Amino acid sequence: MLRRPCSPPRRSVCCGPSAQACTTATTANCATDCGPTGAATEGPFYVRNVAVATDINTRGARGKPMRVTGVVLGGADGNTPLAGVKVDIWHCDAGGDYHPNGNGDVSRYKPADINLRGSGTTDAQGRFAFDSIVPANYGSRRRHIHWRFEAAGHRAVTTQSYWLNEKGSPQDLGDFTDRNAEACRWLDFKTNARGVEEGFFEVKLARA
Ligand SMILES: [Fe+2]
Repeated sequence: MLRRPCSPPRRSVCCGPSAQACTTATTANCATDCGPTGAATEGPFYVRNVAVATDINTRGARGKPMRVTGVVLGGADGNTPLAGVKVDIWHCDAGGDYHPNGNGDVSRYKPADINLRGSGTTDAQGRFAFDSIVPANYGSRRRHIHWRFEAAGHRAVTTQSYWLNEKGSPQDLGDFTDRNAEACRWLDFKTNARGVEEGFFEVKLARA
């Protein structure tokens, strides 16, 4: 694994316009070049074709507010921001339940059954953003968010991200799923002045 500081051009790519995002990205992601984002199990609760949404807590579930932003990089050099990447996100609620606790196409479910799931598309700078609530850890699983990224000319990846400040916790050490996640999938969440837990995810896709 190659460790290096962010160069100014790279910092401008991966950190977006806000100082908060830049601080988060610099500490969590930019110091480490992980290469293409590693895959992790899809799990039993992926619902396909959910609605496009930035705020994915459409049913108003209770919990600590969370905002996850990120960037998707790829291309010939592996570091070019990719526009138009389809990003799927899903996670459980503050009690450990998915909505629904099921999978398949979204048409199988009533709209009221769908929550904490969304889809988006990266902008011209390769950026994405989702607002939600912090998921619980459940069963033997460490706290996690599920993701799927699909971009033209690149290999799609289904993966999971984790909380850096929970790495090495009993919950983490007792979770035998995805034991070797690379550093870039351990997001350095920080709570901002408004009480929102913010994290930044730098994703890299390999060319097909
Ligand atoms: Fe899960």
